[in-house]
Amino acid sequence: MLMSAMPLAKAIGAARQRQHDAGVGVSRVIHLSPQGRLLTHEVVQELLASADGLIFLTSRYEGVDERLIEKDVDEELSIGDYVLSGGELAAMVVMDSMIRQMPGVLGDAESAQQDSFVHGLLDCAHYTRPEIYEGVGIPKVLLSGHHAEIEKWRLKQALGRTWLRRPDLLAKHQLTKQEARLLAEYQQEQASTEEKEKK
Ligand SMILES: C[S@@+](CC[C@H](N)C(=O)[O-])C[C@H]1O[C@@H](n2cnc3c(N)ncnc32)[C@H](O)[C@@H]1O
Repeated sequence: MLMSAMPLAKAIGAARQRQHDAGVGVSRVIHLSPQGRLLTHEVVQELLASADGLIFLTSRYEGVDERLIEKDVDEELSIGDYVLSGGELAAMVVMDSMIRQMPGVLGDAESAQQDSFVHGLLDCAHYTRPEIYEGVGIPKVLLSGHHAEIEKWRLKQALGRTWLRRPDLLAKHQLTKQEARLLAEYQQEQASTEEKEKK
C-alpha cells in the first residue's frame, strides 16, 4: 500500500496557503523518510533558520508516490537508521529538537548550550542530592564551590565520555590545547583504573 499523490498535494497546498496568509515568504516541505538526510544537531540548527516556513509531510505503509516527492518535497529527513510504521513520531522528534532550542522555551537557556552535540562533544555526568546514594558519593570537586575547577572537571568528563562512547564525534572535533591536555589526563586516569581492576 502506498499513499497517493493527489490528497497529499492538496494538503501541502493548503498548508502553503496558510503560511502565505500568515506572512511567510517561502515554505519548505520536508518529508520524514528513513531514506532522508540524518537528523543531527547541525541539521536542527539549519531548520531553525527557516522554522516559520516548514511543512512536515509524514507517510505510512510503503511511503509516498515518488512523483509527489519529486514535485512537492524540498528535502527528506530521517531520524535514524531504522524503520518506523509512520512518520508522525519522526516529525514530533524533529519539532521537539527544534522547539527546545528556541528562546524562552527552557527555564534555563544556558542548559541547552551544555547539552550533548552543541559543542561537538557528549555532555558530562550530572549529580544531584542526596550526596551519598547507595553508598556512592559524588566527585569532590563538585562540592568545592570552585567554579573554574568545576568547569574544568566537566570539560574533562565530556571529552572522556566522547572518547569512550563516540570516537566518531571526537575525530571531527578540533581539540584546543587545554582540551588535548584534559583528554590525555582522562585517558591516563582511565588506564590506571583499568590496571587496578585487573589486579
Ligand atoms: C514503513 S515506513 C516506509 C519505509 C520505506 N518503504 C523504506 O523502506 O524506505 C512508513 C513511513 O514512516 C516514516 N518513517 C519510517 N522510518 C523513519 C525514519 N527512520 N525517519 C523518518 N521517518 C520515518 C516515513 O514517513 C515512511 O514513509
